[in-house]
Amino acid sequence: MSLLNSSLQAEWVARVKHISWEESLDVDIEEINDDHKKLVDLFNLLSQAVENGDSVDYVDAVLEELITCTIWHFRHEERLMLRYRYDGMELHKAEHTDLIEGVRAMQQMLREENRLPTSEDFEYLAVWLTRHIVGQDMRLGFYLAEVME
Ligand SMILES: [Fe+2]
Ligand SMILES: [Fe+2]
Repeated sequence: MSLLNSSLQAEWVARVKHISWEESLDVDIEEINDDHKKLVDLFNLLSQAVENGDSVDYVDAVLEELITCTIWHFRHEERLMLRYRYDGMELHKAEHTDLIEGVRAMQQMLREENRLPTSEDFEYLAVWLTRHIVGQDMRLGFYLAEVME
Protein backbone atom coordinates (compact mmCIF):
# COMPACT_ATOMS: atom_id res chain seq x y z
CA MET A 1 0.00 0.00 0.00
CA SER A 2 1.40 3.42 -0.95
CA LEU A 3 1.90 6.24 1.52
CA LEU A 4 -1.00 8.11 -0.10
CA ASN A 5 -3.29 5.13 0.31
CA SER A 6 -2.19 4.71 3.93
CA SER A 7 -3.03 8.28 4.80
CA LEU A 8 -6.36 8.04 2.97
CA GLN A 9 -7.07 4.85 4.89
CA ALA A 10 -6.24 6.60 8.18
CA GLU A 11 -8.57 9.46 7.31
CA TRP A 12 -11.26 7.00 6.37
CA VAL A 13 -10.98 5.08 9.64
CA ALA A 14 -11.04 8.33 11.63
CA ARG A 15 -14.21 9.54 9.91
CA VAL A 16 -16.08 6.31 9.30
CA LYS A 17 -19.57 6.26 10.71
CA HIS A 18 -21.09 3.37 12.54
CA ILE A 19 -24.68 3.85 13.65
CA SER A 20 -25.62 2.27 16.96
CA TRP A 21 -29.24 1.57 17.72
CA GLU A 22 -30.22 3.74 20.69
CA GLU A 23 -33.34 4.56 22.69
CA SER A 24 -33.34 7.99 21.05
CA LEU A 25 -34.19 6.30 17.71
CA ASP A 26 -37.26 4.55 19.18
CA VAL A 27 -40.34 5.86 17.34
CA ASP A 28 -42.80 3.98 19.55
CA ILE A 29 -44.10 1.65 16.81
CA GLU A 30 -42.49 -1.78 16.85
CA GLU A 31 -42.95 -2.60 13.15
CA ILE A 32 -41.23 0.67 12.17
CA ASN A 33 -38.44 0.19 14.73
CA ASP A 34 -37.82 -3.28 13.29
CA ASP A 35 -37.40 -1.81 9.78
CA HIS A 36 -35.07 0.90 11.08
CA LYS A 37 -32.90 -1.67 12.87
CA LYS A 38 -32.54 -3.56 9.58
CA LEU A 39 -31.56 -0.35 7.75
CA VAL A 40 -29.00 0.48 10.46
CA ASP A 41 -27.54 -3.05 10.14
CA LEU A 42 -27.23 -2.64 6.35
CA PHE A 43 -25.67 0.81 6.69
CA ASN A 44 -23.05 -0.66 9.06
CA LEU A 45 -22.49 -3.62 6.72
CA LEU A 46 -21.89 -1.24 3.81
CA SER A 47 -19.50 0.91 5.77
CA GLN A 48 -17.67 -2.22 6.98
CA ALA A 49 -17.40 -3.52 3.40
CA VAL A 50 -15.71 -0.31 2.22
CA GLU A 51 -13.46 -0.21 5.28
CA ASN A 52 -12.44 -3.85 4.69
CA GLY A 53 -11.56 -3.11 1.07
CA ASP A 54 -14.15 -5.56 -0.25
CA SER A 55 -14.67 -5.79 -4.01
CA VAL A 56 -16.73 -3.23 -5.94
CA ASP A 57 -19.19 -6.02 -6.79
CA TYR A 58 -19.68 -6.85 -3.12
CA VAL A 59 -20.07 -3.18 -2.12
CA ASP A 60 -22.56 -2.79 -4.99
CA ALA A 61 -24.53 -5.80 -3.73
CA VAL A 62 -24.75 -4.38 -0.20
CA LEU A 63 -25.69 -0.93 -1.52
CA GLU A 64 -28.42 -2.49 -3.69
CA GLU A 65 -29.75 -4.40 -0.66
CA LEU A 66 -29.77 -1.18 1.39
CA ILE A 67 -31.60 0.72 -1.38
CA THR A 68 -34.15 -2.07 -1.87
CA CYS A 69 -34.86 -2.33 1.86
CA THR A 70 -35.06 1.45 2.19
CA ILE A 71 -37.60 1.73 -0.63
CA TRP A 72 -39.63 -1.12 0.84
CA HIS A 73 -39.50 0.52 4.28
CA PHE A 74 -40.61 3.89 2.88
CA ARG A 75 -43.57 2.22 1.15
CA HIS A 76 -44.41 0.55 4.49
CA GLU A 77 -44.50 3.92 6.30
CA GLU A 78 -46.45 5.54 3.45
CA ARG A 79 -49.05 2.75 3.58
CA LEU A 80 -49.49 3.35 7.33
CA MET A 81 -49.82 7.11 6.68
CA LEU A 82 -52.64 6.45 4.20
CA ARG A 83 -54.31 3.83 6.35
CA TYR A 84 -54.41 6.13 9.39
CA ARG A 85 -54.95 9.41 7.47
CA TYR A 86 -51.75 11.11 8.54
CA ASP A 87 -51.78 14.77 7.53
CA GLY A 88 -47.99 15.22 7.29
CA MET A 89 -47.59 12.74 4.44
CA GLU A 90 -46.52 15.16 1.70
CA LEU A 91 -43.48 16.53 3.54
CA HIS A 92 -42.58 13.10 4.88
CA LYS A 93 -42.69 11.52 1.41
CA ALA A 94 -40.59 14.36 -0.01
CA GLU A 95 -37.80 13.47 2.46
CA HIS A 96 -38.03 9.82 1.42
CA THR A 97 -37.66 10.77 -2.25
CA ASP A 98 -34.66 12.96 -1.39
CA LEU A 99 -32.79 10.08 0.28
CA ILE A 100 -33.48 7.63 -2.52
CA GLU A 101 -32.08 10.14 -5.03
CA GLY A 102 -28.95 10.54 -2.87
CA VAL A 103 -28.22 6.83 -2.60
CA ARG A 104 -29.03 6.24 -6.27
CA ALA A 105 -26.38 8.87 -7.12
CA MET A 106 -23.88 6.94 -4.98
CA GLN A 107 -24.81 3.74 -6.79
CA GLN A 108 -24.39 5.41 -10.18
CA MET A 109 -20.88 6.63 -9.25
CA LEU A 110 -20.01 3.11 -8.12
CA ARG A 111 -21.36 1.41 -11.24
CA GLU A 112 -20.20 3.89 -13.88
CA GLU A 113 -16.92 5.12 -12.39
CA ASN A 114 -16.03 2.37 -9.90
CA ARG A 115 -16.00 5.10 -7.25
CA LEU A 116 -16.58 3.66 -3.80
CA PRO A 117 -18.73 5.60 -1.33
CA THR A 118 -16.51 8.10 0.52
CA SER A 119 -16.47 9.01 4.20
CA GLU A 120 -18.51 12.10 3.22
CA ASP A 121 -21.09 9.82 1.58
CA PHE A 122 -21.36 7.79 4.78
CA GLU A 123 -21.65 10.91 6.88
CA TYR A 124 -24.39 12.16 4.58
CA LEU A 125 -26.22 8.84 4.85
CA ALA A 126 -25.79 8.50 8.63
CA VAL A 127 -26.85 12.08 9.34
CA TRP A 128 -29.76 11.83 6.93
CA LEU A 129 -31.04 8.53 8.35
CA THR A 130 -30.81 9.52 12.00
CA ARG A 131 -32.20 13.03 11.39
CA HIS A 132 -35.14 11.62 9.46
CA ILE A 133 -35.85 9.03 12.16
CA VAL A 134 -35.78 11.50 15.06
CA GLY A 135 -37.71 14.06 12.99
CA GLN A 136 -40.38 12.91 10.53
CA ASP A 137 -40.51 9.28 11.68
CA MET A 138 -40.81 10.24 15.35
CA ARG A 139 -43.76 12.55 14.56
CA LEU A 140 -45.39 9.79 12.53
CA GLY A 141 -44.73 7.20 15.27
CA PHE A 142 -46.30 9.31 18.00
CA TYR A 143 -49.33 9.90 15.78
CA LEU A 144 -49.70 6.19 14.94
CA ALA A 145 -49.31 5.21 18.61
CA GLU A 146 -52.42 7.30 19.29
CA VAL A 147 -54.59 6.01 16.45
CA MET A 148 -53.53 2.40 15.79
CA GLU A 149 -55.55 -0.30 17.45
FE1 LIG B 1 -39.87 8.01 7.08
FE1 LIG C 1 -38.41 5.33 8.58
